Amino acid sequence: MEKNELKHLAIIMDGNGRWAQKQGKKRSYGHKAGVGALERIALHAVDIGVQCLSVYAFSTDNFKRSKEEVDYLMKLFVDSFHSTNNKFDNRGIKVVFSGVTDNLPDDVVESMKTIIEKTKDNQNGVLNICLNYGGQEEIIRASERYHKDLNSGKIKMEEMNRDKFYEYMDNNLPPIDLMIRTGGERRLSNFMLYQMMYAEIYFIDTYFPDFNEKELDDIIDNYYDVDRRFGGINEKERNS
Ligand code: IPE
Ligand code: IPE
Ligand code: MG
Repeated sequence: MEKNELKHLAIIMDGNGRWAQKQGKKRSYGHKAGVGALERIALHAVDIGVQCLSVYAFSTDNFKRSKEEVDYLMKLFVDSFHSTNNKFDNRGIKVVFSGVTDNLPDDVVESMKTIIEKTKDNQNGVLNICLNYGGQEEIIRASERYHKDLNSGKIKMEEMNRDKFYEYMDNNLPPIDLMIRTGGERRLSNFMLYQMMYAEIYFIDTYFPDFNEKELDDIIDNYYDVDRRFGGINEKERNS
C-alpha cells in the first residue's frame, strides 16, 4: 500500500497553562514556552515536506479568559511575530492567518501585516496561524462571501459544491489530513470544522510546550499507514 499523502497538518496547541502550573509557575510562562515549541515544530514540518501547517493560537472564545491572560497573549503575539519573522522567512515559509482582526489590538494587527507581507512570496510551505479564530465563524464568513458572489453573478448556485466551498474559506487551504491535539482533551473546540471532514485525529496527553519533533515524526509515521477510506472500501475488501 502506498503511504498516505500529508498535505495539510493541523495542531491544536493546548496545555500551555497546565504545563506551567504543574511547575508552580504562572500560565504566561507556559504560553511563552509554547511559542518556542511552535517555532521548532513549524520549522521541522517544512523540513519534512509538509506543505501546509495550521495551528490554533487563539480562539474567539479565548477572550473569555482574564484580562491579564488575554493582554499577555496579545503582547506575546506581537513580540513573537517580530522575532520569528526572519526565522520563518529564511526557511521560505509563507505565513498567513485565519480569523478576524476586528477586535484585536492595533499592534497585533500591524505585526500580522508585517509578517504576511514579508513572507508572501515564499514557496517552501504555508504556516496558517488561526488567531481570533472560530471554525463555525469561518463557515459563516465563507457563506457571506459566497452570497456576495451569487448576488453579483460571479458564481451560479449550481456551481457550488463541497470542494468549491473551500475557495470561500479564509485562506483556501486544502482539507486537513492529520490533526493533532496536545494537552489531553478530546474535543475540537471549534477548530477548522469544515476542513476536518476526513482528518485522522490524534489526541495526545503531552502538553504543547513539551511536544517535540520526535513525537510528531512518530505520529506521522503511524498516519502514513492508516487505511483512509473516505467512505469507500479498500482494495483488499473490494476483491474479497
Ligand atoms: C493553549 O493552552 C493556548 C491558548 C489557548 C492560547 P491553554 O492556555 O488552553 O492551556 P491549558 O489548556 O489551560 O493548560
Ligand atoms: C483551544 O483550546 C484553543 C487553542 C488551543 C488556541 P482551549 O483550551 O481554549 O479549549 P477548551 O476550552 O479546553 O475547549
Ligand atoms: Mg486549553
